[in-house]
Amino acid sequence: MRFITYYLLVLSQLIFTTLALPPKLGQENDLQKQYLVTTLPGLYDNLKANEIPLMFSGQLELYPETNTHYFFWKFSDVDKIPENNKRTIFWLNGGPGCSSMDGALLEAGPFRIDKDKKVIYNSGSWHKAGDIIFVDQPGGTGFSFTDSYDHELGQISDHFLKFLEKYFEVFPDEIDNEIYFAGESYAGQYIPYIGDGILKYNKLETTEKPYNLKGLLIGNGWISPDEQSLSYIPYAVHAGFIKPSNPHWQELLVQHQLCQKVVDRVDNYNDDKIHQDEISNVDCDRILQFILQYTRDTSGPKNEQCINMYDYTKKDSYPSCGMNWPAELKYVTPFLREEEVMGDLNLINHKQWHECDGRVGGNLNARNSQPAVHLLPGILEQIPIVLFNGNLDIICNYIGTENFIKKLTWNGEKGFSEDVEPINWIYDDETAGYIKTERNLTFVNVFDASHMVPYDKPEISRALLDLITGNYDDTTNKGDKRAFITYPLGVRQAKIADEEAEAQKEAAASSISESIANTASESESDVTETKPTETDDDDEVITTSSSTVEESESSEAEYHSSPSTSRITRLIQLLVILVLIWGVYVLYSSYKSRPSSIIKSGSNSGKKKNVQWADQLRRFQEDDEEAQDHQPQNQGFLTKTFNRLTGVVGGDDRGNYTATKTYEDIELGEGIAMHDNDDQNSEPNLDDFIIDSEDDEAEEQEGQELESAGTSNEQIDSLITHKNDD
Ligand SMILES: *[C@@H]1O[C@H](CO)[C@@H](O)[C@H](O)[C@H]1NC(C)=O
Repeated sequence: MRFITYYLLVLSQLIFTTLALPPKLGQENDLQKQYLVTTLPGLYDNLKANEIPLMFSGQLELYPETNTHYFFWKFSDVDKIPENNKRTIFWLNGGPGCSSMDGALLEAGPFRIDKDKKVIYNSGSWHKAGDIIFVDQPGGTGFSFTDSYDHELGQISDHFLKFLEKYFEVFPDEIDNEIYFAGESYAGQYIPYIGDGILKYNKLETTEKPYNLKGLLIGNGWISPDEQSLSYIPYAVHAGFIKPSNPHWQELLVQHQLCQKVVDRVDNYNDDKIHQDEISNVDCDRILQFILQYTRDTSGPKNEQCINMYDYTKKDSYPSCGMNWPAELKYVTPFLREEEVMGDLNLINHKQWHECDGRVGGNLNARNSQPAVHLLPGILEQIPIVLFNGNLDIICNYIGTENFIKKLTWNGEKGFSEDVEPINWIYDDETAGYIKTERNLTFVNVFDASHMVPYDKPEISRALLDLITGNYDDTTNKGDKRAFITYPLGVRQAKIADEEAEAQKEAAASSISESIANTASESESDVTETKPTETDDDDEVITTSSSTVEESESSEAEYHSSPSTSRITRLIQLLVILVLIWGVYVLYSSYKSRPSSIIKSGSNSGKKKNVQWADQLRRFQEDDEEAQDHQPQNQGFLTKTFNRLTGVVGGDDRGNYTATKTYEDIELGEGIAMHDNDDQNSEPNLDDFIIDSEDDEAEEQEGQELESAGTSNEQIDSLITHKNDD
């Protein structure tokens, strides 16, 4: 009888698990309650019940002495698949000084804002893959506020650690969660600094509770500034929007060469000191500015005269060149400025939200901070990093990322090994990009995506988490070109569960038939057959059917003590096993059906994205408007912004962008010898143009040299292609 009770216990446990409801609301502690978000415009009209996240937000006090409060907005799925239950993702946008509400409302968050200033659902939201918290930092950014602005990246890290401390005071149950950081653009500086800060904190003797930091994801990151500036012309040529026939081609090459000299100089420092020209260099910063200037199409409509620097397939007015994009940003700003919304978000300080805050960017000059690229090797010894790039972005383009990776030494070697072939990344049966991965560093080129990958590709961007958590299939051994296969939410888990269920069914079936055979032979022949064998069989069934067989030993003992197993008992056993299998089946089918509602929603609806650096560029725009054409620009536009402490720049009068009709996909593969669709007008071959990147003496005569560029053939490869490391 105990035996049956035991089975029933397991069975009821299974049924309970199968029918278990999502964690109920209302289990928040008092501290949490003051941050709970219970409503937002459109929340209950526009979203289905299972799409409405559990939300907390507010302005957490970090330092009373400087009146520093960080704003956070947390989203949890109430119906998470169990694998994602203990995962916390912190998302940071860049700038510096740009609000992570871009990430929340245009990219990885569950909402987009429609023209009525109401929330609508983003089917690719990352909150389905783990709790995600969007944090406005450093102080002064978005809804965060402070009386004391940060100047260096070390402060960013220290202050974020303080934020974590405060955050986990509100959510103490989550302190053991696996923590990931994700973000983009200038967060390519923030995230390594914060990651490094956490890893160091974890090792302090005084640290009682280390954070379970598991990985960093950086999208279109600004990580190695000068090196990345050197990628602008190669990228422009590769993408086809600059051609050597451009009347300003020589000037561009001169500028590129000046930047190359800076990079060469920096490479030769070989010390750990801070070098200003590595942090921000005018010669390097100007390259992009020149490209946008020299590709300006004055014959076009006013709002299409410049290439959008965040997505070269789109156009914008000049000199905005992308700052008016994405179009949906013009709904986000008024939404966040609604008194009602600020109340819903539990703001104690109803400050006016700006996408990017000029004072934050102006103060954070990072003059004494090494570029974040220097921190990567130390981090990679401890945790994995994924660097992903939307391949249509110019400002933080993927060629720049691949180039600085080539020069980076981590975990004992420099760059990816020669034989690291790009791996196809498949998502939901389509090629989403390619991947290179080695020694904890993964590079992902995401196809058809801009500077803001989750804006263009919400579902695919969410699967980046699967790449870092290992939730993918690696088809290495199946003969094809190697591929990493990721799936829509929950599909892979269901697949694995199916396979396991299949295996269990087989195991159970064979046990049953054995059991039947045993019973049969028992009845026919000797009744003195040894008991242990039988119990072993039965135990096996239990263990394979359920992992919670703790009491099996005591049941076994009980079983042993009653030597006369009647046929009826065996029959009951069989029956219970069958019921058990049925329970398992129910469990799996519920698993399987769960994700289906999320999977299919099209990725084309209501997505938006984020503009990084918009503030800097807007100021650049202002400068330009002031100076128009008659002032020689002797500062890089990025540097310029650092040096000026202009006030807050509003995001109101934004125009529209227009997509160009076609674009060429930037493909993987090396060099510029891609098949440019519109290359038929037979431009001079790039290889005819040479740049002297190493010869210092060339400095004085570089003008002439470049004039006669067609005659020297040695260096163009090092400029454009990346075959020659260094
Ligand atoms: C990669 O990271 C893991 C932690 O995820 C760490 O244990 C390991 O040492 C790292 N690998 C290398 C090659 O350093």
